[in-house]
Formats: sequence, structure tokens, C-alpha cells
Amino acid sequence: MKAAITGIGHFLPEKRITNHDLTKMVDTTDEWIMTRTGIRERRILEKGKGASYMAAGAAQMILDEKQMDPNDLELIIVATTTPDMPVPTTAAFVQKKLKADRCWGFDLNGGCAGFLCALSTAAQFIESGKHKKVMVIGSDMMSSIIDYEDRNTCVIFGDAAGAVLLEQSMDDNAGVVDFHMRLDGEGASYLYVPAGGSRTPASHETVKEKLHFVYQDGRTVFKHAVKYMTEISRQVVERNNLNSKEIGLLIPHQANLRIIDAVARKLDLDSDQVVVNIEKYGNTTAATIPLAMSEAYRENRMAKGDWILLSAFGAGFTWGSILLRWTMD
Ligand code: UT7
Repeated sequence: MKAAITGIGHFLPEKRITNHDLTKMVDTTDEWIMTRTGIRERRILEKGKGASYMAAGAAQMILDEKQMDPNDLELIIVATTTPDMPVPTTAAFVQKKLKADRCWGFDLNGGCAGFLCALSTAAQFIESGKHKKVMVIGSDMMSSIIDYEDRNTCVIFGDAAGAVLLEQSMDDNAGVVDFHMRLDGEGASYLYVPAGGSRTPASHETVKEKLHFVYQDGRTVFKHAVKYMTEISRQVVERNNLNSKEIGLLIPHQANLRIIDAVARKLDLDSDQVVVNIEKYGNTTAATIPLAMSEAYRENRMAKGDWILLSAFGAGFTWGSILLRWTMD
């Protein structure tokens, strides 16, 4: 038995911040942002709503489109680095918003690879026969941890959510066919939020010193992202006896257009085999892959039986690749 994607949705806040808007906030230019990242604008959620608002929006899109009873959901997994609160789990707020009264759920933090961590985890509950319907969501309100006076980070990130519904498939060559995930804590000092956890709890000082914002050594993260996303994607493709021409679509984490282009080139993929929407949304962390997948699905870029390769790299360092065989019409 395999875990197949049978529904897909996303949520985008309405408010946009363009590169032009950012030039009024920090010392940057539209030209620098476009050439170095490929980003033109990003979405920002209004304060006070939190990641669960977008997560529930993405999941609700699936419930509405499938006309599904929320009580049929057995498990909700929310991948996020920006939970509504430290306690309780964001999944609790999502469960309540969806009125999914017969399920359990939890959050999972895999940084920018969070959705892949969640999808591979969820697939195990389906493949084991334990659950029949699992909602897997990636949702991040990055604007809540970005310093809009720091040009190194504020031009990159945005807010969004994406979700997929996983169900059982009796076809052993369908849905989540293979995955490979990795974690290397040596990367922890290159992409992190210094305070707000148990090691350095919030205090007047941590706020004054801006320790609740994302810090990133962009160049180091960039180099590792290209190397590891390429390596792990290639491993997954090769061990399933596929070649680059047989990949229908690569749906990569959207962190930087130059990372995506480099990985695609190294994997010998043509541009029409790669989903790119970073120009419109920037890096939405755990949401990039399900959001890009939802858009690609709505643009009819995936047909039943296509091989779809997912690949991501982020904080931890955490990275991985998932091979899917598409099952939706
Ligand atoms: O999703 C999780 C994983 N995250 C990633 O994968 C992100 C990976 N990293 C990146 O995408 C890129 O490293 C960045 C977009 C963050 C930065 O691009 P870069 O080409 O690596 O630039 P850099 O950090 O090497 O900086 C080059 C120059 C510096 O100036 P000097 O020292 O050469 O004078 C920066 O101060 O560009 C400057 N700079 C900017 N200039 C204008 C940095 N940010 C900006 C900016 N506008 N927003």
C-alpha cells in the first residue's frame, strides 16, 4: 500500500510587498533583488492571525473542492517554523478551524525542508494502514520573524501555506514512491533564530538585541543548498532506475532562483520540467513546495502517472528529496 495525494490546496495573504516597497525600507534595489534572487514581490499576512490561519485556509480549499467531511480526517501534520505560539501545537488551532472533530495532530519543524519531513512522516501512517486520510500542511508566517531593517533577509521571505491530502492507494507504484531525508547539525549556526527557545528565553535584552529574528549566512547556505539538493535528488532518481528525461516535473523549494537553476542544470533538467514561482511569493519556507505543487496542478502541468520530484534544503541543515507518482486527474 502507498500514500497518494488526492487533494491539494494553498492559501495566499492578499497584501503584497514589492521590491519597490522594500527600497523605501532598506538600502536595496529592484535590480539587486531580481538578479540575485529572482523575487519581485512577496505576500504578508496581517498581524494577529498566525500560521494556523493560512494552514487552515489551504486545508479548507481541499475540503471544499473534494466536498469532504472534516470529520473524516484522522491526522493533521503542520510543518512550520513560525507556530502560532510555543504551546499548544499549531495543529490544534487548525483542527478547531476546520471542525475536524475526530482527528489528532502535531507540528513538525524541518525549516525550509519541513513540508518534505511532514509528507514523508504522513506517508508512514498511511502505508502502515493506521490512517486512511491525513492532511499535510506547510505554513509559515515568515514576516513574524523577519527584521525589516535587515536587507540580508527581508528581501527574501514571504508568508503562505500549502496543503495536500494523503489517502491509501493499493497501487505500489503510486503516490509517495520513495524519499530520502538528511539532517546535519553542523549547519545550525548558518541559519537560525538566536532567542525565544529554552536556551535563550525571551527577555528585554533579547528583544533589544533583535535576537528573535532570522539570522542567515546566505553564501554558506546557498553553496550547501545547491550541493545537497542536487546530490540527494540524483540519488532518489537513480535508485528508482529513472533518468532526467523521465522526470515530469521537479518541484524544488523556492529559496533563490539561482539555486533552482543550478540544481536543475546539474540534474540535466530542461526549464519546462521545473516549477518556479519564486518571483511572486519569495521564500515561504515550509509552504513553498505545496504552494508550487498546487499552482502547477491548477495549470495542468501534472498528468496521472507522471514522475514528480520534490527537493528542499533549509535550516538544520535539513534536506531531502521525495519521488512521487502523480495520481490525480
Ligand atoms: O530557504 C532556506 C535556505 N535559504 C537559502 O537557501 C538562501 C541561500 N542564500 C541566498 O539566497 C543568497 O546568499 C542571498 C540572496 C541571501 C544573498 O545573495 P548573495 O549573492 O549570496 O549575496 P551576498 O550575501 O554574498 O552579498 C553580496 C553583496 C554584499 O555587499 P558587499 O559585501 O559585496 O559590499 C551584501 O552586503 O550584496 C549586499 N547585499 C545587498 N545589496 C542590496 C546583501 N543583501 C542586499 C540587498 N540589496 N538586499
